[in-house]
Formats: sequence, C-alpha cells, structure tokens
Amino acid sequence: MLPSAASLRQTGGTEFKRIVFDEDTILRRVRELGREIAAAYPHGDLLVLGLLKGSFIFLSDLVRRIERPLQVDFLVAASYGAETMSSGPVRLLYDPETELRGKHILLVEDIVDTGKTINRLVKLLRARGPESLEICALLHKHVAEHLELEPKFVGFDAPRVFLVGYGLDHAENFRNLPYIAGLT
Ligand code: IMP
Ligand code: MG
Repeated sequence: MLPSAASLRQTGGTEFKRIVFDEDTILRRVRELGREIAAAYPHGDLLVLGLLKGSFIFLSDLVRRIERPLQVDFLVAASYGAETMSSGPVRLLYDPETELRGKHILLVEDIVDTGKTINRLVKLLRARGPESLEICALLHKHVAEHLELEPKFVGFDAPRVFLVGYGLDHAENFRNLPYIAGLT
C-alpha cells in the first residue's frame, strides 16, 4: 500500500518497508492486556511504573484499559553506552517518589531486547520490598539469554529487526507514529 500524504508528513518523508503492527492491531491487543492485568490483580494496591521514554504512549493507552484502581509513576534510567557498564548498578535520572513497599508493581517497558535494562531494574526494584513485581512489555524480541524476570504480560512477539513508532524511537525520531514499523 502506498503511504498517504499525511503519513509521509508525519515521518518527514521517510517510507518504511513494512508496517509490522498497525494501529488497530495494537489497540486491540492493548485492550486485551488491560483485561488480563485487571484480572491478575484482584486485590491490593497496584502501581504501574512506566519506563521512559519508550513506554509513554503504550502506558497511556494501557492504563485506560485497566478497569481497577491504580497509580502511575515513571522511571527514567540513565543509559550507558559502554558495554563495560552492563553489569553495574543502574542509575536513575528520575526515581518514583512513591513508596514501593507493600504495593504490586507493574513495570511497563516498550521492548525487551538484550534484557539488560530489565535485569538491572528488577534487582533495584526488588530491593525496595514491593508486595509483587511483574513486567508488562509491549514487544519481546526473545533474544535475551538471561532475564531476571520474564515479562508476565507481553503485547507481541517482535521480529528481530529495529522497530520504530508508538513510543519507540530511532535517534529520538518516530515516537509519534501510531503504528510500529521496521526501520530497515
Ligand atoms: P535491552 O536493555 O537491550 O532489553 O533494550 C531495551 C531498550 O532498548 C528498550 O527500552 C528500547 O529503548 C531500546 N530498544 C531495543 N530494541 C529496540 C528497537 O527495535 N527499536 C527501538 N528501541 C529499541
Ligand atoms: Mg530508545
């Protein structure tokens, strides 16, 4: 299908080879995830923690589909370019103000790739004594050799290509696309 003038305006003229998940498919799955999550937490305080920036669109659609009381906060993790830091402790640029102890924590990520991000954050969050800790990832590439915690909720198994849109970026671009496309 040829891209419309509107979609070319949104990408600044970039044409993607393939739309991997279109807007309707994403929203249908997000609605299902909302129901799964509500059913998984019949009791207790639920804190949905979005990992910025990648999760911001997914999180905002998702929480509106979770029909139970919840609170929202965010995490901003410092990204280390150097491989040597991969096993080091994660540094948070923004740390939730809220107390995690005694709450059900649902960490929301855009995509699980190597798993490094999850592996660091899970250790850090567990140390704060939540009642429970689970992960909801929109996309899972299933390439990680070891995950401290396998995501309990996954939107889609993702192809092993670089994806953009619906929050995911390439050099900070394309986060605003309502669909998910393969960059190459
Ligand atoms: P991990 O630590 O390798 O699992 O990578 C997780 C982070 O890398 C994600 O939260 C994204 O910000 C980024 N990332 C990994 N794969 C992709 C992709 O295909 N497109 C855009 N960002 C990605
Ligand atoms: Mg990114």
